[in-house]
Amino acid sequence: MADFAQATDLPAWQELINHHNQVGRHLVLRELFEKDPERFQKFSKTFTNSADGSEILFDFSKNFLSDETLPLLVKLAKEAGLEKKRDAMFAGEKINFTEDRAVYHVALRNTSNQPMAVDGKSVVEETNSVLDHMKEFSEQIRSGEWKGYTGKKLTTIINIGIGGSDLGPVMVTEALKAYGDRDMTLHFVSNIDGTHVAEALKNSDPETTLFLIASKTFTTAETVTNANTAKNWFLQKAKQEDIAKHFVALSTNADEVSKFGIDPKNMFGFESWVGGRYSVWSAIGLSVAVFIGFDNFHQFLAGAHAMDQHFLKTPLEENIPVIAGLLSVWYSDFFGAQTHLIAPFDQYMHRFPAYLQQLTMESNGKAVTKSGDYVKYTTGAVFFGEPATNAQHSFFQLLHQGTKLIPSDFILAAESQNPVEGGKHQRMLASNFFAQMEALAIGKTDEEVKAEGAPDSLVPHKVFMGNRPTTAILAQKITPGTLGALIAYYEHMVFTEGAVWNINSFDQWGVELGKALAKKIQSDLETDGAGAGHDASTSGLIAAFKSKAGLK
Ligand code: F6P
Repeated sequence: MADFAQATDLPAWQELINHHNQVGRHLVLRELFEKDPERFQKFSKTFTNSADGSEILFDFSKNFLSDETLPLLVKLAKEAGLEKKRDAMFAGEKINFTEDRAVYHVALRNTSNQPMAVDGKSVVEETNSVLDHMKEFSEQIRSGEWKGYTGKKLTTIINIGIGGSDLGPVMVTEALKAYGDRDMTLHFVSNIDGTHVAEALKNSDPETTLFLIASKTFTTAETVTNANTAKNWFLQKAKQEDIAKHFVALSTNADEVSKFGIDPKNMFGFESWVGGRYSVWSAIGLSVAVFIGFDNFHQFLAGAHAMDQHFLKTPLEENIPVIAGLLSVWYSDFFGAQTHLIAPFDQYMHRFPAYLQQLTMESNGKAVTKSGDYVKYTTGAVFFGEPATNAQHSFFQLLHQGTKLIPSDFILAAESQNPVEGGKHQRMLASNFFAQMEALAIGKTDEEVKAEGAPDSLVPHKVFMGNRPTTAILAQKITPGTLGALIAYYEHMVFTEGAVWNINSFDQWGVELGKALAKKIQSDLETDGAGAGHDASTSGLIAAFKSKAGLK
């Protein structure tokens, strides 16, 4: 493995600084397209999902790339040991070096059953046995063979979990709603705000409700509290022994699961080498399997597996997620971009940006390298997004005419799940997809504005500088397989960035301090007095809250 302290120490980094100064920062997309009619062909790549033959087109041509840029970025990746780090992940090595764990979500979607092992022990059999259990269970729920305590079919599914134990399932069930069982009502309860669980329970019936308690650790305060509230609600009507038919755990922690009162045979397990934000492929995805059916869930895994194989086997210069990760390094560290927009042109994908926020920012929101030094460069960008066209009528103004550089990903499927009005809506959606990217890249000059007859005073306000980079992702249809491949694409993009930045993309120590303080402050709130040891602002706020909430 390449050993280096800072990415800035790598020879290619300096070459990229020079390249940025001499070429990169002078690139003008409008001119690049005028000069090179082959640019689209040159910089677009097609991914084929080997499981179903479907394709996804990734067009990188509207990015700040000259012919020399990608080779230099690839050189940087090689010097950073990206290939070795990637191979180590696929070999089950403990690349999560602060927690001494393998990072093996790729083993959860190993649909071609390749040998995969951790510590010399195969993980294939256990992974498949959990999948078999998920298949059996999801089919029993969907068919009604599994019955509630009064003999009724379970038609309301309430997933209780937070972070990776919520965002994946909620995003995927929404994105694949067209494949779901419409007779089921799904709720995802994550927030400790009592409103979340209260709203889910309000119109639910304990006789027909299945609770999936999703927590890798089974110690997360929000999840355990919400799960207990759900249990208390259930026990108002049902008996303790009825829990077995209505509560299932998705977790790695068998002890805590049985302490909660869930029968271990109703636990779907996974291993500590599955990170929370990488866990939708594991038992945490049970709500997905129940909603869309196991065959579709299998397609979802197979699509991700196909992207894994692409990432593992394709030379870096042709490797789609590698190119995306390197572009992100290019923009963050050489152009000073701080953000990254995700714009799915697909209403069903409305939670995709939120999902990617955890994936990208919990993974690469780090400032310390493997050697323990503070980084000398910028790492993970702020991810944000909204489905388009809504986003266009909200914040796209800043994209077009603001002062910030915001590299953006635009995602569209050619085929709608709902081709209403003979496909007219989809064609309008698609025309916006193309138009926005064209406007961002090409802009509108003052000559063009003047030629339209704008008064001189308005000309500067109506100019679009253009030269704002986008990556277009064009799929055939958002099927389970395509969605799986897209998520895996972003996972490997994150991996590529982390490898270059030499940070650990797989821990999340940054969430701990707030959790510990909240625990202490909660006991301050449960007892009289202001609580000791806080800064003046925190003490003042606690006192104000207590007085408003009628506490002493
Ligand atoms: O606090 C952050 C985090 O640990 C995430 O990484 C994780 O996805 C989430 O909390 C939930 O954790 P768990 O599945 O253990 O309840």
